[in-house]
Amino acid sequence: MHLISFKELSGQQLIEIIDKGIDVKHDPEKYGTALNGRSLAMIFQKSSTRTRVSFEVAMTQLGGHALYIDWRTTNFAIASVYDETQYLSRNVDCIMARLKKNADLQVMAEASRVPVINGCDEKYHPSQAIADLMTMKEKKGMLEKVKLVYIGIHNNVCNSLIEGCTKTGAKITTVTPVFNEPSRDEKLLENARKTGLYETTLDVKQAVKDADFVYTDTWVDMEFFLDPKYAVEKEKRVKLMMPYQINKELLKESDAYIMHDMPIHRGYEISQDMIENPKSVIYEQSENRLYSAKAILLKLLEKY
Ligand code: CP
Repeated sequence: MHLISFKELSGQQLIEIIDKGIDVKHDPEKYGTALNGRSLAMIFQKSSTRTRVSFEVAMTQLGGHALYIDWRTTNFAIASVYDETQYLSRNVDCIMARLKKNADLQVMAEASRVPVINGCDEKYHPSQAIADLMTMKEKKGMLEKVKLVYIGIHNNVCNSLIEGCTKTGAKITTVTPVFNEPSRDEKLLENARKTGLYETTLDVKQAVKDADFVYTDTWVDMEFFLDPKYAVEKEKRVKLMMPYQINKELLKESDAYIMHDMPIHRGYEISQDMIENPKSVIYEQSENRLYSAKAILLKLLEKY
């Protein structure tokens, strides 16, 4: 089994992973040798803090070993993804890859003899969404009918939240004035609409009124944030998105928990004071990347 998006998983399987994350968090010793002698290859074509650290520490704490592989210093950069993955999967037990293109990840999954985990591509970020759902379940004790409002750019994280929420019984409303076209997956949105749990609106004030969680993400993709070629588009987005910033005024009548998958761009998608607000669960959410990474690895390596 691979984890490229949530298409590979039933709602029940997804709930099992979320619950395993919670169990691992409370009883880490129980799993201290679960992946003895196992290796995870972690390949990065883009930068990362949380995904890299959480999966590497997860493998160590489960008794296994993780290799960090920078795409640019390997022959993945000059050869076929298929051939290099054929080789790699004969040496490790699992692969986690953060690639620019979902198409390359699909090739990797096809070539691999071992499970492949999507560490975030332009379409999906499933390991992030599992940590987010875990955080929501911890706070509310359930996911059924819990309402998440995602405010920002429709992107890879947004797709995985839509898929994750609607598969686990949570409601999701998106407020996304800009659609990041490379992330577009009409089939995912169509499936989500059929559940009756997903809606989209531009009325941000109305959307947050009965929200249990309000979630935002960067307005500019990580690989473009410091790119001078992207400066004009960045300025355009900031102007357009500023009315949708998560701040005190927007949440003045709301009791919702505040979420962000990080990295944060303070003063853009979220105001400084909201990050430190008592309702913010942002740092707990990021901590949960570790436990959810363990739960994903245990699932894909058939430990439950
Ligand atoms: N949220 C997230 O994936 O963080 P990194 O980009 O730092 O891995």
